[in-house]
Amino acid sequence: MSGQMEARQSAMLASMSDVPERWLTTSARDKHGTLGAPVTRMDGALKVGGRARFAAEVPLDGLTYAAVAFSTIAKGRIAALDTTAAESAPGVVLVMDYRNAPRLKLPPVMFSAPKAGAQSSLPVMQDEQIHWNGQPVAVVLAETQEQADHAVSLLRISYEAAPAVISFGAAQQNARTPEKILREPTSVAIGDAEAALAGAAFKIDLNYRTPRHNHNAIELHAATAVWQGDRLTLHDASQMVNMTSWTIAEMFGLKEAQVHVHSPYVGGGFGGKCLWTHQILTAAAARLAGRPVRLTLSREGVFRAVGGRTTTEQRVALGAKADGTLAALIHTGVAAMTTHNNCPEQFTFPARHLYAADTIKVTQQVADMNMIANTFMRGPGESVGTFALECALDELAEALQLDPIELRRRLEPEKDPTSGKAFSARHLVEAYQRGAARFGWEKRSAKPGARREGEWLLGMGVATATYPYYRQPGGAARIRLTADGRAFVQMASHEMGMGTATVQAQHAAARLGLPLDHVVFEYGDTDLPPGTLAGGSSQTASISVAIIAATQALTEELLRLAGNESPLAGLSADEVETSDGGLRAIAEPDRFESYASILGRAKRDDISAMAEAPPPSEVQTYSMHSYGVQFCEVKVNEVTGEVRVSRFLGSFDCGRILNAKTATSQFKGGIIMGLGLALMEDALFDERSGRIMNPSLAEYHVPVHMDVPEIEVMWTGIPDPKAPLGAHGIGEIGITGVGAAVANAVYNATGRRIRELPITLDKLL
Ligand code: MOS
Repeated sequence: MSGQMEARQSAMLASMSDVPERWLTTSARDKHGTLGAPVTRMDGALKVGGRARFAAEVPLDGLTYAAVAFSTIAKGRIAALDTTAAESAPGVVLVMDYRNAPRLKLPPVMFSAPKAGAQSSLPVMQDEQIHWNGQPVAVVLAETQEQADHAVSLLRISYEAAPAVISFGAAQQNARTPEKILREPTSVAIGDAEAALAGAAFKIDLNYRTPRHNHNAIELHAATAVWQGDRLTLHDASQMVNMTSWTIAEMFGLKEAQVHVHSPYVGGGFGGKCLWTHQILTAAAARLAGRPVRLTLSREGVFRAVGGRTTTEQRVALGAKADGTLAALIHTGVAAMTTHNNCPEQFTFPARHLYAADTIKVTQQVADMNMIANTFMRGPGESVGTFALECALDELAEALQLDPIELRRRLEPEKDPTSGKAFSARHLVEAYQRGAARFGWEKRSAKPGARREGEWLLGMGVATATYPYYRQPGGAARIRLTADGRAFVQMASHEMGMGTATVQAQHAAARLGLPLDHVVFEYGDTDLPPGTLAGGSSQTASISVAIIAATQALTEELLRLAGNESPLAGLSADEVETSDGGLRAIAEPDRFESYASILGRAKRDDISAMAEAPPPSEVQTYSMHSYGVQFCEVKVNEVTGEVRVSRFLGSFDCGRILNAKTATSQFKGGIIMGLGLALMEDALFDERSGRIMNPSLAEYHVPVHMDVPEIEVMWTGIPDPKAPLGAHGIGEIGITGVGAAVANAVYNATGRRIRELPITLDKLL
């Protein structure tokens, strides 16, 4: 988190060029076969038994309940805010607005820069200015939630509206090209792609559109705040506890250690459970009231105060030679954004790394609008970018009269097409072959509309899934071993339902040579050693490396403690390995002493060691990505246009799979979210008012059981020799490629190309 840590890490970066051996597999020592096993989630029973306490369920003495009023204009100022009626309503403790809210500094660094992915650099309830339709303008605290909800309806607020940019079309008149998209250059050009396209024997040049999506985790965004003097405890649903603690500390003029963030359970994150205004308002209101505050956003509140995926318009142009190889690959476009955040929706990232082409042009723009800041949402960029790119590949395959899988085989690059780096591991062609065999791809008719069951037309589609491998710099882990042979592994990381805590317990058990039930992974609390954010599908790699570093540090501590009477006397940490509940000399396996024996001789109850993760040098050296192939079969009703997905298979290539059960759930969950992207999800933005018109799950549709067929997933499971544990991230790749696989299947069924999501039945009539 600290600048110091970052500086230290960049200094180390230069000296490291490859992944040290000890970061990799634990398999030789994994005698219990723990890593990779389909272990059930350790938090699962607590959750289904109702014993997991979420942020909005913390009981506190004197707790007050908050309700939020949201702006109804997109830009301008609050002209009048009459709180009289609300304040005299039953049970009301206070009303907080910009006039009486505690004075707060601007959200620092990740906000005010504004840095990539930051939610907003705007002040939080400090003045009368309105920046988006839905901005929180007042918080009512009351003795019960119902009293707060009632009182908020009694607020009398009037606005003075100013001209707002709330039409995407109008915003595009002033579209700008940011210098960087995340940390990559916005534009990449290899050769003259436009000229190559013009001269190509076969070409397609198409536009695709994707709508806004809103975050809709099952658990509503909520926070409970309690102050003790100048110390704040925030019970949050968070995928970045350390960044939250640090940012709130800066805003309130406190030290980071004075803000304790606790987030043991998160009911779905997907990129949306970072830091928004509601946590800051909870803390501010608790300070103002001198009482604990619980703020749970309503479902509508989540649409107003938490951003989601932004809308895009994309162009994909492909020029091919007769053999299918690409003379030109062009992917450009524009995404809506705000000036007070920086999440440009990196939809051109897949085109940089997937296919060989003689010439390449990728670039993207942003169009600033007055709206809730958009943010990361599972596979941000990649999910909508693969929709355009992979639909275009399908259209090119048809123009070439080639099978779409055969086309991709011919486009397989030897090295990264834009960076020129070697791939650390890439078995995409194998994932295609294995998936095609399992799915029965040979049953697909190349001619659209050729298969029918009564009034249902059947089609099959395929698309590549891809997501980059990331590992965040920073983070540290501590391991405490006890004399009874147990390990407590600690890092302020996040379990949002992915299986992180279970997988890291498996990892630590395998690494330390302990049975799984002797290992506890502790997370979700800023009192623990600092973690990195759970984002970019990077957390498993980030934690794994920190645990490996901590194991190294622990080994050194254990050897020191073992001393001269140990069979290990005289050995250095590099000469021993953690194995079978103790240390063993690598060269002389008979020289062994158990942790219990070492601790017992020293009369110690426990021993612990902590270490920082080394910086992510592997990503500097290699082109690293998760891959997959999405196979979809649809039935489209010829009379009503209704699309039913009848079969789905994901065939993935994401390195070593660390837990077969939680990985299956991650892949399936991503695919299900992808079915929503393909067929339903659409946050309707009123271009007259800048207001989202369907802020409820009644009107904003996500897949339900009836929409989801049996989904099968499989994987190559080939470890990446350059990645910690041989594993790539799997949290986000599942959603990528799904939109295109569905659209391509719909085309194969009906002969209709739908280039605008979601593929609703009106577009097929
Ligand atoms: Mo993910 S969208 O980085 O939580």
